[in-house]
Amino acid sequence: MNDSALATSIQNRTARVAIIGQGYVGLPLAVEFARAGFSVVGVDTDLDRVGALQAGQSYTPDLESEDLIALVRQGRYEATTDFSVLERADVVIICVPTPLRKSKDPDISFVVAAGTEVAARYHPGQLVVLESTTYPETTEELLLPIFQGRGAKVGEDFFLAFSPERIDPANPIFKVKDIPKVVGGVTPACTRLAAMLYGQIVPRVYEVSSPKVAELAKLYENVFRNVNIALANEFALMCRRLGVSTKEVIDAAATKPFGFMPFYPGPGIGGHCIPVDPLYLSWKLRLDGYESRFIALADEINRAMPAYVVEVTTEALNQRRRCLNGARIFALGVAYKRGVGDIRESPALEILKRLRDKGAEVSYADPRVPSVVLDGAPLKATEPTSEALAATDCVLILTDHPEFNYRQIVELAPLVVDTRNATWGIPVPQGRVIAL
Ligand SMILES: NC(=O)c1ccc[n+]([C@@H]2O[C@H](COP(=O)([O-])OP(=O)(O)OC[C@H]3O[C@@H](n4cnc5c(N)ncnc54)[C@H](O)[C@@H]3O)[C@@H](O)[C@H]2O)c1
Repeated sequence: MNDSALATSIQNRTARVAIIGQGYVGLPLAVEFARAGFSVVGVDTDLDRVGALQAGQSYTPDLESEDLIALVRQGRYEATTDFSVLERADVVIICVPTPLRKSKDPDISFVVAAGTEVAARYHPGQLVVLESTTYPETTEELLLPIFQGRGAKVGEDFFLAFSPERIDPANPIFKVKDIPKVVGGVTPACTRLAAMLYGQIVPRVYEVSSPKVAELAKLYENVFRNVNIALANEFALMCRRLGVSTKEVIDAAATKPFGFMPFYPGPGIGGHCIPVDPLYLSWKLRLDGYESRFIALADEINRAMPAYVVEVTTEALNQRRRCLNGARIFALGVAYKRGVGDIRESPALEILKRLRDKGAEVSYADPRVPSVVLDGAPLKATEPTSEALAATDCVLILTDHPEFNYRQIVELAPLVVDTRNATWGIPVPQGRVIAL
């Protein structure tokens, strides 16, 4: 297949699409292409995940199992662990994890592993797109040579681009199909084909001059978020000293109709993106002798929040003549954000561990996380019943899941430390709720 044959197959949606990595990013993307009429195969190394997907079981809040079942039945979507399906794919999109090593350096091994599998089955006329968030120049410095090593001529018989995924799991308004795509190809032909591909499923594709620009655009988006969350978190520390409600101040500032975007404090940052991605950028710049100051400061402030939450909780108990050692703390929510069951990098886990280390009796409720592992031992979720709420010394709201009954919580719990402003606006007796 040459580039015009590939373009035709993309436009008439007969191109066979393979998506490597069927996680929070890869699965909704696969489903969107399948809905658009493409035949899609999701390739993943996790046998259990593939089995569940083949049985039509979705694990992401952005996809109903019924929708997945329908696509599997129609033969539009299948999941497999068998990489040989790549031999028949016209388009391959890579959505594998890009975590940090313990040293906080990028762990790019998943991208290399996926790229190597694709390149081993490379055939002329293939379009390959990397979506995993990564440091600038990954596409051209790391991925491209793997394909060139197999004899691929980029822009002629092989097309390579970077297009960052921007999904926000559980966002009720913006799903994959609603979010514009940024696309940067290694050559103009690569950009054109990748843009044509995404144009089939999203309303707007924004072309940039290189993969490096697209990689940096994604990093800048996440650094922006990370830095602004850090600013809100530090602002919360200042507001506490000044004796005012952080939320009231930020809400007031947010009435300005231009030049301001509200961010609110929280117990810390979590998930696979915000705590991780900025460090990909600072790592890359460090190789060039440059220390990125904003990223380092934001990281320091955000990572100090779990300890701060423990401090606020300790002080609130102290004011009630209770000490943390022996106190019963009932945490609400351990997922890293509202509406998801994802606990990757969740600050809640660190907070629970710190509380327990100081002698607190810790329990938790989370409708989406049935159990967690603390210090190597499993801890099971319990129901936030009236009895449980009333029998605790402190309810600690760590994730503002919509399922929790906040009115009941503030009525029954003797003390609430609310790190998410979930109880904002509910009338409560003075001093019962401590917010960040
Ligand atoms: N989760 C988000 O909200 C989000 C948003 C935007 C971008 N991203 C980025 O997208 C990428 C993927 O994130 P995610 O949240 O979907 O991760 P995830 O962990 O949910 O999913 C990744 C999947 O890839 C599979 N996998 C790992 N190595 C593989 C390999 N060599 N071959 C095939 N499958 C493999 C894993 O089994 C897993 O199912 C990351 O770079 C992340 O930074 C994530």
